Amino acid sequence: MIEELYLRNFRNYGEARLSFSSGINLFCGENGQGKTNLLEAIYLLGMLSSFRKAEAASMVKKGEETFCISGDFTGDGAYKLLLEKGPRGWEKISANGSLYRKKLDYLGKIRIVVFSPDEIELIQGSPEGRRRYIDRTCFNTSHHYLKQLKNYRRVLKQRNILLKKGIFRGEEFGTWTERLALAGAKIVKERAALIEKLNQKLSEGHPFLGTDSIKLRYVGTCTGDEMDVSQGLLDKLTSSSHVERCRRTTVSGPHRDDIEISVNGTVAKAFSSRGEMRSVLLALKTAETALYDDIWGESPLILLDDVASELDIGRRSALISFLREKGNQVLMTTTEAENIPLFGNKEDTLFRVSEGKIIH
Ligand SMILES: Nc1ncnc2c1ncn2[C@@H]1O[C@H](COP(=O)(O)OP(=O)(O)OP(=O)(O)O)[C@@H](O)[C@H]1O
Ligand SMILES: [Mg+2]
Repeated sequence: MIEELYLRNFRNYGEARLSFSSGINLFCGENGQGKTNLLEAIYLLGMLSSFRKAEAASMVKKGEETFCISGDFTGDGAYKLLLEKGPRGWEKISANGSLYRKKLDYLGKIRIVVFSPDEIELIQGSPEGRRRYIDRTCFNTSHHYLKQLKNYRRVLKQRNILLKKGIFRGEEFGTWTERLALAGAKIVKERAALIEKLNQKLSEGHPFLGTDSIKLRYVGTCTGDEMDVSQGLLDKLTSSSHVERCRRTTVSGPHRDDIEISVNGTVAKAFSSRGEMRSVLLALKTAETALYDDIWGESPLILLDDVASELDIGRRSALISFLREKGNQVLMTTTEAENIPLFGNKEDTLFRVSEGKIIH
């Protein structure tokens, strides 16, 4: 749970300090006032990246040189996290007063599930976004995953360097191909296991979906256990050698895999209604939340950006009741407070956001 947040020169905020309540924290304001910026700051503090495809350098307030974000979190461990971004990169990444040089060592202290309008890309967009989503979720469930992913990327890069040079046979190339198959199989194994767990959660039903059933499917070059995948990848890499010679890059492996999201047996990409897509995504995000609850014994922080705008009142009410029942701390934004049926619960707080200022 986040208790306090301090911002200095972050996007349109000069200086802001605020305390959160344990229930639903609703940030209300007109367009362009800083609602999403606030959620972005919290996400950045936990994950060192934005959910908006933005570079940290662009987040420094116009005319300033550095920004600072710090926050107090309680829960499994109590953390005081602090970030300072300067003109030449991160100047300070610290938790409880200790400085971190490696981002990887800092990450994973808190878990955040975010829902933003851009998330629709997860359904409509390219496989890359879905791979990024599944990789982030894998990391949030087991932190060693990022090391495996980095290793895979390193091996892939080496193999691609050889292909670029026109080297596609020989001992060195064979070694990198074998390494790629082994490293790739580990990635596929983790991703497939995660998808199975998410499917389990999704099958438990969701209030905003009615009787619809959602299923994820890993669409990969190879399936099976780690050994099978590794052998399968090796075979595939060997058999696609002629294509690799032409394209001078590795054409198969987890970096090309996809995740299919289907509703009642139909691939969700084909859906026409944005409201329905949002509901599917909300179900996916709540499945993710439930998974973290199981694994870490602690609810993640939930950030909902502008979630109400494309949901009808029935779905909005169902969502609020659902979150309330689970007892998660939620930070949500809206342009109209009336859109969110909170019913005056005492664990909730309403904030007004106006021109980079937050008023309780
Ligand atoms: N680096 C920056 N320095 C100063 N202002 C910035 C910076 N980056 C973004 N902004 C400003 O922040 C504002 C947008 O804030 P934000 O996206 O949080 O709005 P919002 O309240 O979520 O609006 P909406 O309801 O439209 O989603 C814009 O006015 C933008 O110009
Ligand atoms: Mg916004």
